[in-house]
Amino acid sequence: MTIFSSEKPENSEKTMILSKPRLIANQRKLINIYSVINNKCSSQAIFRNNLNLPHLPVPSVAQTTEKYLLSVTPFLNNEELNKTKQLLEKFKLETEILQKHLVHRAKNTENWLADWWLTCAYLEYRDPVVVYSSPGLVFPCENFENENDRLAYTAKMILGAVDYKLQIDNDNIPLDKMGKDPLDMNQYKKIFGTCRIPQDKRDGLEFNHDSRHIVIARNNNYFKLQVVNSQGKVPSVSQLVSQLKYILKSSQEVDPPVGILTADKRDNWAKSYITLKQVCPSNAKSVEEIQKSLFLVCLDNPMPEYDGNRRSLGSKQFIHGGGSRGNSANRWFDKTIQFIIGQDGTVGLTYEHSPSEGQPIAVMTDYIVEFIKKDVNLPDTKLEMVPIKLPFEINNAVLKDIHAANTTVDDMVANLDTDSFKFEDFGKDFVKSQKLSPDSFIQIAMQYAFYKIHRVPGAHYESAATRKYIHGRTETIRSCSIESVAFAKTMLQSKSDSDKVAALKSAINSHKKYSIDAVNGFGVDRHLLGLKQVALEKKIPLPELYQDASYARSSHMRLSTSQVATKCDGFMVYAPLTSDGYGCCYNPRPNDINFGVSAFTSNQETSATIYRETLTSCLKEMHDILARSQMSKL
Ligand code: COA
Repeated sequence: MTIFSSEKPENSEKTMILSKPRLIANQRKLINIYSVINNKCSSQAIFRNNLNLPHLPVPSVAQTTEKYLLSVTPFLNNEELNKTKQLLEKFKLETEILQKHLVHRAKNTENWLADWWLTCAYLEYRDPVVVYSSPGLVFPCENFENENDRLAYTAKMILGAVDYKLQIDNDNIPLDKMGKDPLDMNQYKKIFGTCRIPQDKRDGLEFNHDSRHIVIARNNNYFKLQVVNSQGKVPSVSQLVSQLKYILKSSQEVDPPVGILTADKRDNWAKSYITLKQVCPSNAKSVEEIQKSLFLVCLDNPMPEYDGNRRSLGSKQFIHGGGSRGNSANRWFDKTIQFIIGQDGTVGLTYEHSPSEGQPIAVMTDYIVEFIKKDVNLPDTKLEMVPIKLPFEINNAVLKDIHAANTTVDDMVANLDTDSFKFEDFGKDFVKSQKLSPDSFIQIAMQYAFYKIHRVPGAHYESAATRKYIHGRTETIRSCSIESVAFAKTMLQSKSDSDKVAALKSAINSHKKYSIDAVNGFGVDRHLLGLKQVALEKKIPLPELYQDASYARSSHMRLSTSQVATKCDGFMVYAPLTSDGYGCCYNPRPNDINFGVSAFTSNQETSATIYRETLTSCLKEMHDILARSQMSKL
């Protein structure tokens, strides 16, 4: 349970979700984080259910157990399967009381899952946000010939982002829809001005919607730059360029890498955060200015070890920054949005995942990319301040923390391999022409590629948006199915094309069916999480199913995937969920598909490059069997 800070005045520009001990002390005031924040910030019209969206449903236990059994079957032998069946019968009895509590919670909150999800998936997650949680988004590549090119692009990018922020504030952005259903737009309201706050055991999240400044990071220096004046006006491109030039001139010296602390394990950062702020009051003030900024813009130095593949280079630059010898300290990883501008024109962003899913970030990216292409002709405006350097002083204690964080970051950097690519043979138009779902087609290709490499079924996570419900975020699509494994096996045997096409269609249809259930809130994973959370909160023993091999194996997601669609030639990319897995984010466009692929180098079984090569050949094989079977019908 989470609450709004009672210390902040009504309509304060800063909204804070408090840490756990405070929560317990304030429990009587609690309902749901979003409705409470809504009451406090009503003048800002944030977090409102103004679309009258329905509430996330609670599936029945029978629905979940039936779907669960099918989804775990690929991972079990007969004996294990029989045991799981017995446990599922027991589970139905054991969860009677848990389900009642869950249904009660659903009736009394706008979204029974929202605050559990925020805390379990994000705020209580203690690994670094870098690599383990925050994705990168690679924009279409630019080619900067000199610093002037880079600054001109940066100025327009900043103005595009600020313009988008103002459009969000004025409820001017188009409503997202899934088919005819309107989607919850609250995530958009949490993109700008938001910052994760490091705390022991459970982080906080702070919203600063009314901020008017951004922060520019360069050579580990941070500068506060006003982008909206007191009359609500934004500067012209040339005004911004001259401010950026001033910043460039004032940041020739490399500052101590305090930003690297934000890339450490969360409990370490929570400790070093206190140490850093205690060195002197100006440190605390600088931290606050960064936290309150609308977003960061990181003017990066060249990445170490550039291997010529700009998509993979961008993937690394926007996931982690290249380590202590690269740009990892030229960041503040707690900020929701950090735009990153490489010297050569590799541009993109990294985003802290807790307030928003990737799709709103992708929609914002399209807006900014289009904005940059336009002839932006804003008049000069009254500037009320020059860029202000945010100073940091460090002592030996901070230095020690920096050394420790450097080691953590460099280990993560060395461990992450990426091989991101554009698949150009066809895009979603071809799949649609076959009367198949493009998303399911791609998912089944990923399943087939995994099976082809490893010859075992790979548990496979795909995000499905549950934004047709108020405050909805995601449900898991379990993409590994009896049918997906049967298809992979069929492809690897000398079967006829018609057998292969039949197996492909069966796998795609099974995936599509699960996807539809998931977007409607009827997957299995969030329900299982909800029942578990009730048991933990009410101190009821956990059903034995949670210790079963079926549970462990089917949730050891060796493929972590999601569709993040942009119109522009960009893509999102993130690390695998498991040490022996792959990250594979994709952007299906009409005639091509961008993939962001990753694997951990420490695992001998996985390789991002082998996965890229195999996925490419699987997509082509799937195309060819469909094309041949169509030809044979003519
Ligand atoms: N024949 C012809 N066309 C078909 C088809 C078929 N059998 N099945 C689907 N299509 C069409 C659809 O109508 C749609 O057309 P459009 O491009 O004109 O809108 C298009 O193909 C794409 O549909 P499909 O590929 O089936 O899936 P989708 O775009 O609905 O995406 C999910 C499915 C699950 C990815 C989506 O619902 C979702 O949840 N997205 C968000 C994921 C997310 O949260 N990502 C961020 C995580 S950080």
